[in-house]
Amino acid sequence: MSRPSPLGQYPASANLASLQEKMANTHLRDLFAEDSHRFDKYSLEAAGLFLDYSKHLIDDEVMADLVKMAEQAGLPAAIKAQFSGEKINNTENRAVLHSALRNFGDDPVMVDGQDVMPMIRETRERMKSLTESIHSGEWKGHTGKTIRHVVNIGIGGSYLGLKTAINAMTPYHKEGLDHHYVANIDPNELSEVLRKVDAETTLFIVASKSFSTLETLQNAQAARRWMLEQGCAEGDIRKHFVAISTNLTAIDQFGIAQENTLPLWDWVGGRYSLWSSIGLMISLVVGYDNFERLLKGAWEMDKHFQQAPLPRNMPVILGMLGVWYQNYFGAESHAVISYDHFLRDLPGHLQQVDMESNGKRVRNDGSTVDYQTGAVIWGGTGTNDQHAYHQLLHQGTRLIPVDFIAPATTHNPIEDQHPWLFANALAQSQAMMQGKTQEEVRDELTAAGMSADKVEQLAAHKVIPGNRPNSMIVPEKITPETAGALIALYEQKVFVQGVLWQVNSFDQWGVELGKVLGNRVFDRIKATEEVTDQDSSTNGLIQRFKHFN
Ligand code: F6P
Repeated sequence: MSRPSPLGQYPASANLASLQEKMANTHLRDLFAEDSHRFDKYSLEAAGLFLDYSKHLIDDEVMADLVKMAEQAGLPAAIKAQFSGEKINNTENRAVLHSALRNFGDDPVMVDGQDVMPMIRETRERMKSLTESIHSGEWKGHTGKTIRHVVNIGIGGSYLGLKTAINAMTPYHKEGLDHHYVANIDPNELSEVLRKVDAETTLFIVASKSFSTLETLQNAQAARRWMLEQGCAEGDIRKHFVAISTNLTAIDQFGIAQENTLPLWDWVGGRYSLWSSIGLMISLVVGYDNFERLLKGAWEMDKHFQQAPLPRNMPVILGMLGVWYQNYFGAESHAVISYDHFLRDLPGHLQQVDMESNGKRVRNDGSTVDYQTGAVIWGGTGTNDQHAYHQLLHQGTRLIPVDFIAPATTHNPIEDQHPWLFANALAQSQAMMQGKTQEEVRDELTAAGMSADKVEQLAAHKVIPGNRPNSMIVPEKITPETAGALIALYEQKVFVQGVLWQVNSFDQWGVELGKVLGNRVFDRIKATEEVTDQDSSTNGLIQRFKHFN
């Protein structure tokens, strides 16, 4: 654990720091023993998601002070600013309105004096008709055949979120249309996909907010060349390519027909864009109606976020708890473990949503923070992970708060497998909370007939300290609505934390340097002469690469 780094700029912080000392010496077991209503007190339901946060190192005083701190940070006004289209992305002078994309209300949402809702509705209509023309077979490839494969070419926010949503909605997939993804510039990925599809029945969606991302443009050009090599005439390329971007000129230069282009706007951040036309792939795979259900689930969460008082507000609670552990206990990371195979992509998407948003070292005003910001987000799926890294969660030296996500029902019941799955989720949550004391270990080993010497030898190894905080998120089932609510929950949690840390959660300047250096290194790799103008490590590694190429 790193040293705690309290948010001293808020008056409530001093009391939180002393409460942390008290809580660090309190065991969750005792908190449960003292209060039989703990579960009722620290749980709530919103937008089809149930959250149990009773297994956290909190009491009423901690929660009240966290809420005070959120108020002192101006969270209520910040929430209003987000939804009303204020330019809260101050380094890019942009509004942040992914919420408008999933808004089905009648009120206008204004950006620079313009209501953006009509163009959002119009784009939804275009997504719907494009989806229907593919599903009905009206859209034909260059030899007159119906589209059977859709390939999304995009990376980061133009890939992770839509894939997460698509896999979350696996039971809703339409028959007869296979979905594929090409994100990496690694040619292995594109080659694997091209081996599985055939040119006559494949539609490529080039998804890129900027339409300048190296990986996406290289893959799109390669896919275009492949189509031509497979016998598609230049004039028929439009039958196999759709593009989504804010950069309509670049799409035009690429050669994708205007009628096959869907717009995007600069007030949609890449990692928040699955709700926009970037979600076309979702609509194609699950049908437009289910895409709209996903949006509506997210809209429900947004309404809850805007309307619920801070102490009963799910994204606010999760955001504040994260800050509690990162800044007052010195936790470094946060795990998200879902007990649902269909949510297997969620941690990857949340890594971008959280770490690209809040991995920041200066405040909005440019001053350097003197506290930790974004946590390292990681995770996977239960029960697989129980047989991999849970050992470290239970007996390792680090404090790693965990979110367990466990739907109460399954789309695919097989005997008792789902009850077993859910039981495992609960058992992990319980084990992290209560652990196993030295006394319990000794009694257990002695009762098993072990000699006193052996008991002494083994006892320390078998003790599980417990007191490891965790949340349990329980939707009734993963439906389009609950999947939408879940993703929106995490987006807004990240927003809450950005407000508390006073950082701009909506820019990502840190990724630029790597892109610039990538261009320079690429030039040196392609140069015929020996490279000597970089640092010795880069020079040496370039020479090694050249040796084999
Ligand atoms: O390099 C980071 C990033 O800009 C992400 O923020 C974004 O989601 C991703 O690249 C892809 O960008 P684009 O959609 O413009 O291709």
